[in-house]
Amino acid sequence: MHAVTSARFRAAVDASREDWEIIENAERQWRRNAGVGEGLLRLLGSLQYDDALGAPVNLYTHCLQTATRALQDGADDELVVVALFHDVPEAISQNDHGALAAQLLAPRISAARTWLLTHHGVFQNYYFVNHPTRDRHERNGCLDHPYAEQTDYFCRCYDQNSFDPDFPVLPLDSFRPIVRRFFTAAGAA
Ligand SMILES: [Fe+2]
Ligand SMILES: [Fe+2]
Repeated sequence: MHAVTSARFRAAVDASREDWEIIENAERQWRRNAGVGEGLLRLLGSLQYDDALGAPVNLYTHCLQTATRALQDGADDELVVVALFHDVPEAISQNDHGALAAQLLAPRISAARTWLLTHHGVFQNYYFVNHPTRDRHERNGCLDHPYAEQTDYFCRCYDQNSFDPDFPVLPLDSFRPIVRRFFTAAGAA
């Protein structure tokens, strides 16, 4: 077993070249071992008992349900990962959660899925038919975009319908191999 080597500086200004190499090597190893994915799984897992804030299910169940639907629909690993983490930033920020989710997964995801995440809120509004304040036609300005159709498909088939407390969601652990596979491949690239 290798001893863990850590840089010994106490202020960044004192760090040596060797210190930075230790850190860079550790970060590279972490990426190779799908560390980003593990961190996101921990973050999502921490939401398990969060209040649903008036919704039929909380964010944790909503994310699992969205990802379960994507997986059962035959989505590729990237889209399952996108579905699994698409709303996680809603739990920790009042800012645009779609853009934040895209940032969390960048640069591991494609331009198409980055656009999907960034715009899914606008497309989701179309299905909030009776929402008192949201404009369901807000997406109209984006409908000609090449990624609009896949974004609507995500919202229509996976996201807007994933508030069902009776839907048999797959447990978080069942997504672990997919997350690991996706981030290992992305980290090695
Ligand atoms: Fe969302
Ligand atoms: Fe959602």
